[in-house]
Amino acid sequence: MNFSSQLLQWYRNNRRDFPWRRTKNPYKIWLSEIILQQTRTSQGLSYYTKFTDKFPTLRDLATAKEEKVLKLWQGLGYYSRARNLHASAKYIHQELKGVFPNRYNNLIRLKGVGPYTAAAVSSICFKEVKAAVDGNVYRVLSRVFNIETAINSTEGIKIFQKLADELICHKEPGDYNQALMDLGATICKAKNPICDVCPLQSKCIAREQKIADKRPVKTKKSKIKNRFLNYFCVEYEKQFFMKKRTENDIWKKLYDFPLKEVDCVTEELKQGDIEVIQSIIGENTFTLQKTRQYEHKLSHQKLHINIYYIKSHTKIRKNGFIKVNQHEAMKFPVPKPIEKFFKELFKGLDNKG
Ligand code: ADE
Repeated sequence: MNFSSQLLQWYRNNRRDFPWRRTKNPYKIWLSEIILQQTRTSQGLSYYTKFTDKFPTLRDLATAKEEKVLKLWQGLGYYSRARNLHASAKYIHQELKGVFPNRYNNLIRLKGVGPYTAAAVSSICFKEVKAAVDGNVYRVLSRVFNIETAINSTEGIKIFQKLADELICHKEPGDYNQALMDLGATICKAKNPICDVCPLQSKCIAREQKIADKRPVKTKKSKIKNRFLNYFCVEYEKQFFMKKRTENDIWKKLYDFPLKEVDCVTEELKQGDIEVIQSIIGENTFTLQKTRQYEHKLSHQKLHINIYYIKSHTKIRKNGFIKVNQHEAMKFPVPKPIEKFFKELFKGLDNKG
């Protein structure tokens, strides 16, 4: 039997019974996945119950006061998750007329939804073939296939996602994803895995080599902090909108563009990004001309920067920004990546005449 058949057969007999497994309601599945990123299932259960009691539908959550949502989240920590949850509920309720996105590519645009959550919701609710790779899945795959690449390295993340996508059961992707999670949580545990009852024991290289305790490999937490910055270079008639940085943060007193700091990189504009753009250009239409990516290393930070170049179709108010033309832009003190961006942009514009 192959990997996924063996796993699914085990899951049919051993699946854990959770309230979020008795529904395919995407709102509830999404809620459960956001809560479970924060905590173990045992604690997550009581939060899930509290949330679904108080906010049984997406509409209830969307129309609640943010303070109420934060209060219910109390104790889970990482409050931006609760704020994102609430903001996305409002967005779906108001902008999507309450219709929950049903594709991975649309789910991932929601605030607070990363590759894991988008894969979990789309596979469980809509049978989309997307592997959801969480900590449990890293552990199981690293042991069965004896993968030495660090799970917290860029390369590792790619390798594990690719492998999980190759292994996934196309008929039952949601069950497959949850089966791997359950196996990791109950059998292939971080400490004292119970290999003797594991359905994958005959395939498991780490078990054969007695190195299960050495997998997965994780690189030591470096002191380097990764930050993900989405910049919006907004142009209207060759004038660019910039602002002086005033916070006690990197690049204080340099000039930059409207900015949204996010938790991870995404190719497309997310709802939170669009809100920043709209805070500058209002409801006016715009064209996304291009996106450029830069990596920039500072002594203790690695910056992953996306610069979205946006052309407004109509005149916009300054809203606290300064408007600069090409010539002035090159005179302002700007961070290195913005300087690079301008150079490339102006070269292109000059060539066009
Ligand atoms: N952890 C995160 N999501 C889960 C799920 N759907 N089932 C079990 N454990 C999980």
